Amino acid sequence: MAEQMSGDASGSPGSPTGRPAVPDLFEAVTRLVVNGRPTVLSVDTRVTLLDALRDHLGLVGTKKGCDQGACGACTVHMNGKRVLSCLTLAAQCEGHVVTTIEGIAPPGAMHPVQEAFVERDGFQCGFCTPGQVMSALALIDEGRAGSDDDIREFMSGNLCRCGAYPNMVAAIREVASERMGDAVL
Ligand code: FES
Ligand code: FES
Repeated sequence: MAEQMSGDASGSPGSPTGRPAVPDLFEAVTRLVVNGRPTVLSVDTRVTLLDALRDHLGLVGTKKGCDQGACGACTVHMNGKRVLSCLTLAAQCEGHVVTTIEGIAPPGAMHPVQEAFVERDGFQCGFCTPGQVMSALALIDEGRAGSDDDIREFMSGNLCRCGAYPNMVAAIREVASERMGDAVL
């Protein structure tokens, strides 16, 4: 934002060269809540939410896979809905509530979906896992985990190069069933 630039454009020294400082027209201040904490981002308007989370807030649990909306590795929640953070600009997040994989359970603890992924071997290298877990959480909350086919369909935006799909489906089915009071083993 203009009010955050150094110097001004009226001729006062504002740069090491002594030339008038050029306003950074591409910078924006965005106020949002990240993992329950009020947060102020002051970043270029072209910075994605993914890069802001990783590079500016140090929340590197959210992964960058394709960086073009094709793999789901960057999935986070915005206002309770899953979004691809690589296709979302940070500046679009004004006033929104963002939750990342770091925010789904207290420090040192695991969310039941994470526990189920561990118990069911729902991952191998683990690179895709944060995005898978964030999608799984939303899927269960949306009530769309009624069958294995439903789980596969509504998780289809999250790719796994290790092919851990069957075990992920089992993990999600387990948590969804427990949520419905119909636990399966
Ligand atoms: Fe966002 Fe692949 S990194 S969809
Ligand atoms: Fe390796 Fe999914 S566990 S990419």
